[in-house]
Amino acid sequence: MWRPDRASDRPLYQQIATNIEQRISLGEMPPGSPLPSERKLAQQLGVNRSTVMQAYEMLRASGLIESLTGSGTRVCRDREGSAPRQTPNWSRYVESGTLQPNLPLMRRIREGLQSGVPFINFAGGELAPDLSPNDAIADIMTSHPFREPLGYGNPQGYVPLRVALASFLLEQRGIAATDESILVTSGSQQSLYLLTQCLLNPGDAIAIENPSYAYSLAMFHSAGIRLFGLPVDDEGVHPDGIRSLHKQHRVRMVLLNPNYQNPTGTVMSAERRIEVLACCEELGIPIVEDDPFSLTAFGEQPPPPLKSLDRNGTVLYIGSLSKIAASGLRIGWMVAPHTVIRRLADARQQMDFGLSIFPQWIAARLLDSTSFLPHIEQLRIALRDRRDVMASALRRMLPGEISFELPQGGLNLWCRIHGEVNDYALLENGIRNGVVFVPGSVYGAEHGYVRLSYARPPMEEIEMGIDKFAQALYKSLRT
Ligand SMILES: Cc1ncc(COP(=O)(O)O)c(C=O)c1O
Repeated sequence: MWRPDRASDRPLYQQIATNIEQRISLGEMPPGSPLPSERKLAQQLGVNRSTVMQAYEMLRASGLIESLTGSGTRVCRDREGSAPRQTPNWSRYVESGTLQPNLPLMRRIREGLQSGVPFINFAGGELAPDLSPNDAIADIMTSHPFREPLGYGNPQGYVPLRVALASFLLEQRGIAATDESILVTSGSQQSLYLLTQCLLNPGDAIAIENPSYAYSLAMFHSAGIRLFGLPVDDEGVHPDGIRSLHKQHRVRMVLLNPNYQNPTGTVMSAERRIEVLACCEELGIPIVEDDPFSLTAFGEQPPPPLKSLDRNGTVLYIGSLSKIAASGLRIGWMVAPHTVIRRLADARQQMDFGLSIFPQWIAARLLDSTSFLPHIEQLRIALRDRRDVMASALRRMLPGEISFELPQGGLNLWCRIHGEVNDYALLENGIRNGVVFVPGSVYGAEHGYVRLSYARPPMEEIEMGIDKFAQALYKSLRT
């Protein structure tokens, strides 16, 4: 919340008046809206009541606010001396539109992180700055002159990047793609957004793992998509689950995250991949294979992607540099049949005319550079070390309160809490203690689960963060 600056030369009452004036002109306080009482505002801002009285007096004199006996102070409806003007009712406008607000718990986490107070961040599913290939990127930017045309680019993506991606995917994941079958997107997120906007209709049903990252995405709700959870065991989802959901709801798409699934860390077994693909081929349902984590394997590689087994064009494969290089590059991709790629690239023209050339140019050179695969090797080791530090701190500090499977890749630890706990209360207690994490209900799980990311905070903060989390949990557990 804004507060006047006591170190400034400007009197406090003037700072308060200016702040209110700005909020009126930005439409945050539309005509007719009430101002807090002098006493209340003085309390909120930590100033004397007489300071607020002076500020209000100044605003009254300039005709911006009026005080009516019995009804308090409010923003003037008609500005003195000018024809009546109406500020648009922004509060009403922002409730409109097709994109719905994010989930309240996600908004609360973001608010906490943006409050300026330092937090240990177990909520961000992204790499800490020291895990990104910053030196390699700096080297690309200094040693290669940038001479690309700066007009609107190809909406399907920068061709050299698509060519680099085709060989990267073949070598690393056994996926046969050509530059024609690849669409470059602003992270995997945009691939998911384009799919919901271009290939589905409001009311359509999609099947997702339960719990799933997709539950946290208001974009599906905004598009009127109905999400149905598939039960998951140690090997991933079972084809029987897909068949039975399809029977009940006519599933139009199956969305899977088979490697180190977000949030649970599960890896779908090789047999299940074959069975699930065969089932979807038989039912004629496309599979979206969302695969941002496969290259983070700590030991053994995960089984081949469904896309590498796909002979029928059933699988739409989505990948990203976010979890293996840097989320801020906003480089993602989709491998799909030409009809789909053409449709989505056409839609890009309506959205943004395609991604900026700069991150694409960097990504193309990064993928081709000799340092990229060694970077991934180091990243795997660094992530495994962080996982181990987090896991041992949890075992030490919360021995009977929490259990988890040790993930074999990815960025997250999915914990079950023993005992009754309310997600909202737990998060609030965490925020009060200076630590944030994602309560499991964000991903569609029942209360009593939590996702802790070990990739985002600096290594040396992990133990302290778990200590803070443990205190928040003890406080929240109902006795
Ligand atoms: C499973 C999964 N898919 C997609 C995304 C979106 O990532 P990005 O848009 O940064 O590639 C995330 C991010 O956490 C994720 O966990």
